[in-house]
Amino acid sequence: MAFNQKHLLGIQSLSASEIITILDTAESLAEISLREVKKVPILRGKTIINLFYEPSTRTRSSFELAAKRLSADISNFRKESSSVVKGETLKDTILNLEAMNTDAIIIRHAFAGSPYFISTFCSSHIINAGDGAHEHPTQALLDAFTIKQRKKKISSLKIVIAGDILHSRVARSNVLLLKKLGAEVVLVGPPPLLPPYFSTLGAKIDYNLDRAVKGADVIMMLRIQLERQDKSFFPSLREYRNLYSLTRERFQNAKKDAIIMHPGPINRDVEISTDLADSTESVILQQVENGVAVRMAVLYLLLGGKEHEIAD
Ligand code: CP
Repeated sequence: MAFNQKHLLGIQSLSASEIITILDTAESLAEISLREVKKVPILRGKTIINLFYEPSTRTRSSFELAAKRLSADISNFRKESSSVVKGETLKDTILNLEAMNTDAIIIRHAFAGSPYFISTFCSSHIINAGDGAHEHPTQALLDAFTIKQRKKKISSLKIVIAGDILHSRVARSNVLLLKKLGAEVVLVGPPPLLPPYFSTLGAKIDYNLDRAVKGADVIMMLRIQLERQDKSFFPSLREYRNLYSLTRERFQNAKKDAIIMHPGPINRDVEISTDLADSTESVILQQVENGVAVRMAVLYLLLGGKEHEIAD
């Protein structure tokens, strides 16, 4: 098994073979969540902190379930009810939590690079659960797992990622991962939300969703991240919808067996029509289900689970 990382800070620092190891491990672990007793003793005795400075439904809950299904102890930290509100710094917060003998710290924070910063003074394994507009590596991994599950491959697929690219850590991690695995990635959005420098990641840039969708195998829609915008990036929501919402009419130009993805949360009838979000072509809830298996794999590989224990 090719995996020698201490932390998961981003997709950038992973090799293609390490990504494949995570996906293969997730495939082995996925069936645990289908058992009547959804628990194996692989990480018994390990202590994990789920440290979320930003809101989350999917990532926080699936990391918690992943840890519990591997028998680790996990403690959920919420900024609003912590001493952060009394002014405690990120560094002091981490040092104090680590003094309780943690093995891993999962962190979501508004500042890009905060997981890396922590890794410079912390001896626990650090897992990035989303840092500002920088990276969201486990989202990209679960997206890749879902694509592979449905399409049986990633290499040479045409994958369109559309929406608010500028503020999206999901887009950045996905481009990095999908390019490492040989996909063709096309980024689409209004020019203010899609700066040309994204092409340096290896993606093609297109400002026309109708054109980009043609022949696509996978269409991943992203929400507009109003919480990261301090100015208006487009004239009106109606205009945005007219040009960049995925509708049934637009989707018909994709390949016949194309799938629709979204990391959530969805703005229904803004970036995607409700009928498409709930359609048989949508794999949005499969992405959520796969998030548990992928996060189990990440915890297992970082915290030193033994391969033979998966079958126990
Ligand atoms: N996709 C994702 O990161 O969702 P949450 O913000 O709910 O964790």
